[in-house]
Amino acid sequence: MDKNFYITTPIYYPSAKPHMGHAYSSIVADFFARFKRIDGFDVNFLTGTDEHGLKIQRAAEKEGLDTLKFCNEISKTFRDLSKTLNLTNTDFIRTTEGRHKKSVQSLWNELKKNDDIYLSKYSGWYSVSDEAFYAEDEIEEINGKKFAKSSNSTVEWVDEESYFFKLSKWEKPLLDYYKKNPNFILPLSRKNEVISFVKNGLKDLSISRKSFSWGIPVPDNKDHVIYVWLDALTNYISALNYPDTKNKMYKKFWPASVHLIGKDILRFHAVYWPAFLLAANLPLPKKIYGHGWILSGEEKMSKSKGNILDPLEIINQYGLDPLRYYLIKEVSFGNDGNISQERLIDCINSDLANNFGNLCQRVTAFAIKNCEGKIPKKINFQNDDLKILDKFKNNLDLIRDKIDEQDLNFYIDFIINTLFETNKYFNDQEPWNKKNDILRLNTIVYTTLEIVRKISFMLYPIIPESSIKALKIFSINEDSIKFSSLENHNYLKGNDKIKKIDILFKKIEKNYD
Ligand code: ME8
Ligand code: MG
Repeated sequence: MDKNFYITTPIYYPSAKPHMGHAYSSIVADFFARFKRIDGFDVNFLTGTDEHGLKIQRAAEKEGLDTLKFCNEISKTFRDLSKTLNLTNTDFIRTTEGRHKKSVQSLWNELKKNDDIYLSKYSGWYSVSDEAFYAEDEIEEINGKKFAKSSNSTVEWVDEESYFFKLSKWEKPLLDYYKKNPNFILPLSRKNEVISFVKNGLKDLSISRKSFSWGIPVPDNKDHVIYVWLDALTNYISALNYPDTKNKMYKKFWPASVHLIGKDILRFHAVYWPAFLLAANLPLPKKIYGHGWILSGEEKMSKSKGNILDPLEIINQYGLDPLRYYLIKEVSFGNDGNISQERLIDCINSDLANNFGNLCQRVTAFAIKNCEGKIPKKINFQNDDLKILDKFKNNLDLIRDKIDEQDLNFYIDFIINTLFETNKYFNDQEPWNKKNDILRLNTIVYTTLEIVRKISFMLYPIIPESSIKALKIFSINEDSIKFSSLENHNYLKGNDKIKKIDILFKKIEKNYD
């Protein structure tokens, strides 16, 4: 079985500092990367910044800064955010790097060699904000101004010499590919959207610009720069040292397991990128997952709307793990989600502090007092104990399958339900009334500790720092977190010391003004 896993986030535009939407994609990608790692996979996790094109050039001009200097500054804020979010990305790519330019020009040459590129003229609508060409029927006019219907961004008229990619030629092969690979585009609603777009007919795609210079030059015509999306999409293989397809990284990790993106950039990933790869005779990524939008007051966050939520502010106020937990739990994965401070506080108070944190404190305090501060040695599981313990054992493969379908909702529901059950189990079993039956008392304590251990393992991809803290109860360190060990009911060793840990999550008072 293939035990390599390659996951990517979009490479973000460093036109402004990162916001909650960027944090969301990155945190979710980190969840999958961490899960796969504890499940024994060799993981390559790529993120980075997309630094060419008119959008960036204009943003730099507006600040009166040299374009590369501007990119250096803002790209750094994205790199810093990866650290703040505790991401385990294995690489951070910038499209202004030499390794990337080399790959993009090689891919261009390959497309050219295969007769998929020709020179002509583009006349049509262009959105600088989306870096996208739009057809007439994708545009609407409001108060004399033209907008792209899908994104509400303004469009401008472009009339210039341009190289074209023969996208039309790939219409049928793409449709065949979607049919043969039913899970290529997820969730299913997105797949249908893509298929109907392609069925509507694909026009050849303009893939160079002549009227500005901030980009990678077309290899044999320095008057043109390569279209920023052809440039950007290539990052997924330039990070694996393409065109050297014989090198270890490429051989191990291409095709990617999943490109995780927001639904705003589905067309680029599910139509253009596969077409470029088909034309270059390269394998296609295994999956494109287009998640929904984080809304701020019912609307998509955007700079122009001024409703940007700043992840750093939330982290400073509430901490990182609560934010990670909240985004993963509250935004039903695949759909749009509204985020609110009130719901975030509810998550902290009821799920993290009450349900998980309190269980950890209760059972350790009880064991310290009644079991000499040690993991009980003599135990005898009964049905009540096995009922919860077996849940893990019996669902291991199902959980793996759900993760492979990016079913985050299943994963988090499993944890929450099990936490409820365990709290109820501990209450119903009343170990404090079992002082005359030490074997039973010990078994209840052991079972509960073993579940705390298992749940902490499962929580690791979501709230890594807190999970590691909880596992200090058993002196288990990060390297020992293995998903497969959830099968084992007797992981904890009798007589090992139990350590008291600090409160994991502080409850937050609700303050409404
Ligand atoms: O599109 N909710 O970069 P970008 C959820 N450079 N996710 C959001 C979001 C929101 N409100 N806003 C942004 C680009 N995102 C290109 C990508 S890839 C080869 C090139 C996330 O800075 C989401 O993942 O506009 C979305 O697809 C991405 O950020 C867009 O980031
Ligand atoms: Mg965008």
